[in-house]
Amino acid sequence: MTLRVLLDVDTGVDDAMAIQFAVAHPDVDLIGITCVAGNTSLGNVVDNTLRVLDLAGAPPIPVAAGALRPLIEPVRASHVHGGNGLGDIPLPESTRTVDERHAVDFARDLLLASSEPVTIVALAPQTNLALLLRLHPEVIPQIERILFMGGSASGGNATAVAEFNVWHDPEAASIVIGSGVPTFMYGLDVFNQVTIDEADADALLTGPSASGRLTGALLRHQMADDADGEPDPSGYAGHIGDAGALCALVDPDALHIERHPVRVALAGESRGQTIVDRRQRVGEDTVHAAGSAAPATRPTVIDVALDVDRERYARLFLATIATLP
Ligand code: RIB
Ligand code: CA
Repeated sequence: MTLRVLLDVDTGVDDAMAIQFAVAHPDVDLIGITCVAGNTSLGNVVDNTLRVLDLAGAPPIPVAAGALRPLIEPVRASHVHGGNGLGDIPLPESTRTVDERHAVDFARDLLLASSEPVTIVALAPQTNLALLLRLHPEVIPQIERILFMGGSASGGNATAVAEFNVWHDPEAASIVIGSGVPTFMYGLDVFNQVTIDEADADALLTGPSASGRLTGALLRHQMADDADGEPDPSGYAGHIGDAGALCALVDPDALHIERHPVRVALAGESRGQTIVDRRQRVGEDTVHAAGSAAPATRPTVIDVALDVDRERYARLFLATIATLP
């Protein structure tokens, strides 16, 4: 079954691999891409996205530029994607043009014109999506669900407890999760598990396809960027990162998914943390709130991926990338 998909990206080393996957996989009908500042500046995100689409031999998929910065915070680009946001890997300049509309207007028009509901796959800080939902709630019936790479039911990466996409724009993530749109969280609990081993990465790097060589270079960048900068002792070259969220879209059976209340911490040291409530019983916070003036409001219950068959997604990723020119 083909899924109509709108991607929201901050391309980004792993966003690039996700775009390659989305272009290549037969079950994904990629109808548009919106760009937002995050891993790197908005200008770099747009430029990188167009160049990756070119290399993938993609059809003329419309691309629109969105928010230059988060709703509240300044831009705090990720330090792990290199100077140009694409691992400083040089790619030919693109001849594609960017849609003249702002990403929010573009997404509204795209969703309202769609003959069937659209799946939004969010691989970046959710500023564009929050603005879309606040400015144009009329699009909500046209959204099948929002699958977002972000958050964590365990530890963080941007901080000890917060994952980068949510940490970069916590208010936006809170708006999206609380919007009532069916939402699926592909967080660090699974994001960090799916890796490609060195032999496969190097086979891509030296292989016949330009897209495969880019993927190999992106995976090598991921490895080179490991904290100690040394080859990963496990032999794994690099995380497929955001591309894992596209694997989750087309092969959800490889995941262990639970439904839990999730809310985003907006204050204090835990700001940007996704608080995933996995308790099986009512807690004291509810019991003792019963009599208080401000009754506890239950966070939104969403699908949360908590484990993954990492080998299955690694094989799916490699098989899909192998079909690109
Ligand atoms: O925390 C990982 C996420 O932050 C990924 O989407 C990566 O591209 C960065 O945006
Ligand atoms: Ca990203």
